[in-house]
Amino acid sequence: MKRIAVFASGHGSNFQAILEQIKKGFIPASIGLCITNNPEAGVIEIAEANGIPVKICPPKDYSDSHAFNQAILAALIEAEIDYIILAGYLKLIGRQIVDRYSNKIINIHPALLPSFGGKGMYGHHVHEAVFNRGVKLSGATVHLVNNKYDAGPIVLQKSVSIEDAISDEEIAKRVLKIEHEIFPQAVKLLVENRLEVNGLRVTIKGEQIVGDD
Ligand code: GRF
Repeated sequence: MKRIAVFASGHGSNFQAILEQIKKGFIPASIGLCITNNPEAGVIEIAEANGIPVKICPPKDYSDSHAFNQAILAALIEAEIDYIILAGYLKLIGRQIVDRYSNKIINIHPALLPSFGGKGMYGHHVHEAVFNRGVKLSGATVHLVNNKYDAGPIVLQKSVSIEDAISDEEIAKRVLKIEHEIFPQAVKLLVENRLEVNGLRVTIKGEQIVGDD
């Protein structure tokens, strides 16, 4: 059974959504480790409630980002992790981790990349920018992770109309619902090794994914 590490910094609703689909047998993998940079993150309780080991790595405990990422890499190797899922993780993944887990790391972004992405574009900042720009559609993107924020090959995207949204909070709610739908689908494709990557294009091998709502 393939082993997944989940990296998260926040509430953990995406982590929860993935856990549910693992329990239902939709995702053929197990979660071997939860990594967080935030000692207050909600994901810690979720992991503990499910008997998943947690490694809390506050960056301030390390001399520099290399030591920080080196410690995380060591934990991944010790836990015999095959794939990495970024579920609301706010730190850039170190090059040594990206290189070792090439095309085996995916991230969920709460907008339709490449729009509204890049450094500083996370959480509510994204939905504020989307609301203020007056776009009629938003949505979520799952992409493979490389050494630049939100710039890796796109795996799945789904849009939602926000024409009648009256606030960025309303947009956030609609987009989060989409995230909980497409992220587990992307995790399934990843662990079943069904992603064919050519440059920035990803094609899905085998039958199209049918979400398990
Ligand atoms: C989500 O909006 C995700 O798109 C972004 O961080 C947020 C994580 O939310 N990367 P949660 O912690 O999974 O509830």
